[in-house]
Amino acid sequence: MISINKLQELIEAMTLEEKVNMLHGNGIFETKGIKRLNIPPLVMSDGPMGVRNEFTKDSWIPKNTTDDYVSYFLSNTALAATWNPALAYTFGQDLGSESRSRGKNIILAPGINIIRSPLCGRNFEYMSEDPYLTKKMALPIINGIQENDVAACLKHFVVNNQETNRLTVNIEVNDQALEEIYFPAFKAALTEGHCYSVMGAYNKLRDEYCCESKFLLQEVLKDRWKFDGVVISDWGACHSTKKAALNGLDIEMSVTTDYDEYYFGSNLYDLVSAGEISESTINDKILRVLILMNNINMLDGSQQKGQRNCHKHQEDILQAAQESIVLLSNRNNFLPLNTDLFKSIAIIGDNGNLQHSNGGGSAAIKALYEHTPLAGISMYLGNSKKLTYVQGYTSDVDATDEVAFNLRQEALRIVEGHDIIIFIGGLNHDFDTEGRDRTNYQLPYQQDLLIKELAKVNENIVAINISGSAVDLSALENHSKALIQTWYNGMEGGLALAHVLFGQVNPSGKLPFTIAKNLNDYSSHSTADNPYQDTIHYHEGIYVGYRHFDSNNINPLYPFGHGLSYTTFDYSDLSIQQDQEIIVSLYITNNGNCQGKEVVQLYSSAIASKGNRPDKELKGFKKVSLKPTEKQKVTFEMSYEDFAYYNQDSASWLIEPTTINILIGSSSRDIRLEKSFLIPENVIK
Ligand code: BGC
Repeated sequence: MISINKLQELIEAMTLEEKVNMLHGNGIFETKGIKRLNIPPLVMSDGPMGVRNEFTKDSWIPKNTTDDYVSYFLSNTALAATWNPALAYTFGQDLGSESRSRGKNIILAPGINIIRSPLCGRNFEYMSEDPYLTKKMALPIINGIQENDVAACLKHFVVNNQETNRLTVNIEVNDQALEEIYFPAFKAALTEGHCYSVMGAYNKLRDEYCCESKFLLQEVLKDRWKFDGVVISDWGACHSTKKAALNGLDIEMSVTTDYDEYYFGSNLYDLVSAGEISESTINDKILRVLILMNNINMLDGSQQKGQRNCHKHQEDILQAAQESIVLLSNRNNFLPLNTDLFKSIAIIGDNGNLQHSNGGGSAAIKALYEHTPLAGISMYLGNSKKLTYVQGYTSDVDATDEVAFNLRQEALRIVEGHDIIIFIGGLNHDFDTEGRDRTNYQLPYQQDLLIKELAKVNENIVAINISGSAVDLSALENHSKALIQTWYNGMEGGLALAHVLFGQVNPSGKLPFTIAKNLNDYSSHSTADNPYQDTIHYHEGIYVGYRHFDSNNINPLYPFGHGLSYTTFDYSDLSIQQDQEIIVSLYITNNGNCQGKEVVQLYSSAIASKGNRPDKELKGFKKVSLKPTEKQKVTFEMSYEDFAYYNQDSASWLIEPTTINILIGSSSRDIRLEKSFLIPENVIK
């Protein structure tokens, strides 16, 4: 590490031209270093599901070499569905190590925008509709990444919740929603998590582009949150020189190769030379960049080298993928499938045999390998069973109806002669993708019709939905004996699924978002502006996800936090001790005959509040592992601040002297224990 004085000396030794070159792209994924001062360029890469393929320095043409094959990590939604921060930490460590092994200094991850609408194309890159779950999972990822001498770069600050017109759309949202829903994960990641960089979003907030918003970058990030790291523009998200430079943007990245023409190129040089932007403004940006470089040991040659494609990473990915799978329904304990009781399985559905790692936009990677569900199930069963695969439906957009009909007929012929049918459908990266949103909530490719017809011939159907977003699962629910939600689940996703299907692993994933019965049940749609409008008003304010469903008594198909197990858990003995802190404790017992993991969820509900507060909010969760009959104590240490809300009138966070109901549940709608306590007047500052 180099001392801060030395960093200041380095700045003094730089020419203005050298400084400016450090503040904008000089390659599509790098800035310029200063050779004579031993300052290397900052080299960056996407992304959230693994280190992106290598491009030539000055174009978007892939290098097409073989040394950029990497481990394919699970998507953020999948990771969030584990509700296991320890797995998020390991994920971060492995991703950081792979990034270093590819020579990267900044990895453009994690994506932590709130999942506001199920139709947003990039939901799979984000975590949850809930800010608390997002924050609790993002922090360990950042720690893990940065321990490898790589800077994490949070994206996209902020309210980047739709892909439609993402480059220009203006978002109007009230302060309470910003403070309670859209800011908390960013704030925690930058303050508690010490994330070294953050990416400004493409869109506008309140008529200002995020990358030149004084409110967002200067007032919120740098003044209020005391963020001392680097603000990087999304690629092409900077729209001005003076405004962006004065309002807090530090580095401009873009998509073209005329680097000198960037807003932070020769224009910036000219404005500083003319005295319109002070050199101290530039020096502040350079100091931030140098601090980041110093934090990741770039300046003294001691930066770690990292490792990729090792067995450890593959095993960690398998472990996380297993814990991310959500068992949505299981009629008469149809799952796990007992291999002694059947002789043949038919796997039906395009997603059974489709690889996903190479799609989705900037999140796409070159996976060293990817086990599809078909590969995973074949590996697991070997030759012990008759295993047949048919496509059933096609995701080929050019396919005629005739083709779709023939595939369906083939599937119908197959199912009759098999004991168990595993239907594997859902979305793919033609839908869960950067740059566009889905246009409806339905399963594509007539999958509803297919499963309905299959069920008429053979009812023994396990349905698997692969997606990064909520999608209408009513038909899969109605025509299957068990339904599983899985994800773009990394290179071991197929094997992880097999382990859950056949009971080697007891499922323990929980939904990080609500799956509604109808699109209009989501507040982002019931009150929505047309996504093509120039300005989108977030009419629903803080009522995003389950906050809306629960406050308005709308029954979802599957609620936030839902996920079944092959065992059952008993919750008992809730107690609350109140002093300087609030200690909530309870016991949980595994009642079944197999080991299992349960996510104990703590929600709070403010009774008789004078404020605008939702029916309930997630304030804590713990994932516990229990052997059969084992009983464990689960404790949550809470502070009074945890129960504060943002009051628009006073423009401040308030702790109300009110009764708080503590709800302990297995999901947001499966509350097992309740107890209340009173917030005394004397804790209110
Ligand atoms: C995306 C970012 C990504 C960047 C670089 C942009 O289009 O919005 O998430 O990191 O490209 O590829």
